[in-house]
Amino acid sequence: MLNDIEEVLYSEEQIQAKVKELGEVISRDYEGRNPLVICVLKGAFMFLSDLVKRIEVPLEVDFMAVSSYGNSTKSSGVVKIIKDLDVTVEGRDVLIVEDIIDSGLTLSYLVDVLERRNALSVKIVTLFDKPARRTVGLEADYKGFVLPDAFVVGYGLDYAEKYRNLPFIGVLKEAVYS
Ligand code: XMP
Ligand code: MG
Repeated sequence: MLNDIEEVLYSEEQIQAKVKELGEVISRDYEGRNPLVICVLKGAFMFLSDLVKRIEVPLEVDFMAVSSYGNSTKSSGVVKIIKDLDVTVEGRDVLIVEDIIDSGLTLSYLVDVLERRNALSVKIVTLFDKPARRTVGLEADYKGFVLPDAFVVGYGLDYAEKYRNLPFIGVLKEAVYS
């Protein structure tokens, strides 16, 4: 598995330090509120579990699964809800936890869905951002690291369902997917 990694971009320690920082800012912003924290499966599961430990306000967690990629490394542009939320978002302060924003298509669709369901507020926290690849105007409210335009894996992110368990984030060797 490690043989398939070209380069480690951020180590486990660097990621944990950033997650702590994000948690502190979010804790301050949501003081006195009870946000509904939505994990976008599957990629964000590791970030979600580390992040909520650093958020010091009462919160609820729910999960949503959408697909836009299949096993390819490019967005198809078609977003489909595979698993919907268990709870209603009406009147809630919603914080969407995403692993990585690439084209922005997935999140702009999700934000739209949640706003149409009358959430009180909808904000986005993403650990990784690839602004160079954006095709829609979408910015995260909180972001961890800005990444170059390369396919990355680890810390929840996969290629064809593999590599999610790596504790760091790294660039996959091109030979693996080409
Ligand atoms: P869009 O293009 O809609 O895509 O912003 C967001 C989703 O695409 C996946 N994605 C990646 N997954 N390595 C991955 O493992 C990457 O480099 C990568 N870039 C995008 C991811 O699931 C994200 O939720
Ligand atoms: Mg994914």
